[in-house]
Amino acid sequence: MRVVIQDDYNKMCKWAADYIAAKINAHNAGPEADRPFILGLPTGSSPIGVYKELIAKNKSGELSFANVVTFNMDEYLGLPHEHDQSYWYFMHDNFFDHLVDMKPENINILNGMTDDPEGECARYEEKIASYGGIDLFMGGIGVDGHLAFNEPFTSLTSRTGLRDLTTDTRIVNSRFFGNDPEAVPAQALSVGIGTVTDSKEVLVLISGHNKARAMAAVVEGGVSQKWTCSALQMHNGAIIACDEEACGELTVDTYKYFLDIEKSQRL
Ligand code: GLP
Repeated sequence: MRVVIQDDYNKMCKWAADYIAAKINAHNAGPEADRPFILGLPTGSSPIGVYKELIAKNKSGELSFANVVTFNMDEYLGLPHEHDQSYWYFMHDNFFDHLVDMKPENINILNGMTDDPEGECARYEEKIASYGGIDLFMGGIGVDGHLAFNEPFTSLTSRTGLRDLTTDTRIVNSRFFGNDPEAVPAQALSVGIGTVTDSKEVLVLISGHNKARAMAAVVEGGVSQKWTCSALQMHNGAIIACDEEACGELTVDTYKYFLDIEKSQRL
C-alpha cells in the first residue's frame, strides 16, 4: 500500500486529481483506448476538492471524460434524485453537471428508489463486470473506517447490496440533514468491499483530525472487518492520499517511512 502524505487538504486533492487525470490520459493514449476507462467515485466532503480540480482540467482541455464510464459507490435508500442529500443530486451538483464532455449514459449510480434492492444491486455488479471491472476506484472513509457504506463488521468479501447504517454514521451524516440523525435514511445501497478490491487500483482520500484514528487502524493495524477499509492492505494497487492532520495517530516511524519512500515519486 502506498500512503501519499500532503501538507493539507487542498494539496491532497490536487495530488489525487493529477493522479486520476494521468491515469485517464494514459489509458486514452494507450493500446486499450478503444474501450472506456472505468472510474469508481465517492460522495462526501473529502472528494469535493478533487472534483473541483478535475472539472478545471476538463474545462481547460487537459482532461476529457468522453471515454470515461463512472460507477458511484453508494446511495441512500428512499431518497429521490431531486432530494438535495441524495448522492445522485450530490454527484450532479458537484461534478457531472460541470463537465463539458461527460455522457449522461455513462454515469452509473445505484437507484435508491428501487422497489427491488436485491435486483438493483445484482444488476450493478453485472454492469461493472460487463465492462471488465473498474480501472480505478476513488473512495473516502468514515470516522469508523467504513468504505462506501460498508460499516464495521461487513464482510471483507461483500458485494453490492443493501446496508444498515450505524447510529454513529447517521449522527455523523446528520450535519447534512438539519442535525437530525433520525432524518438520515437508515439504509443504503452500497458496493461491497469485494467490489472495490476487485478494481485494478483503489485510491482512498483521508483528511482531517477526525479520521486520524481510522487512518492508523487502516495503515498500521491488521486486516480486520472492524475497520473495513483495512481490506486494502491485501490489494496490490492501493493508495491512500492523505493530509498531515490525518496522520496524527500514526507512529512516528510509519509517518517518516512514507515521507521517505514517496519523496522520489511525484505521481
Ligand atoms: C459517507 C459515505 C462514504 C464517505 C463517508 C465520509 O458515509 N457513504 O462513502 O466516504 O461518508 O464522508 P466525508 O468525506 O464527508 O468525511
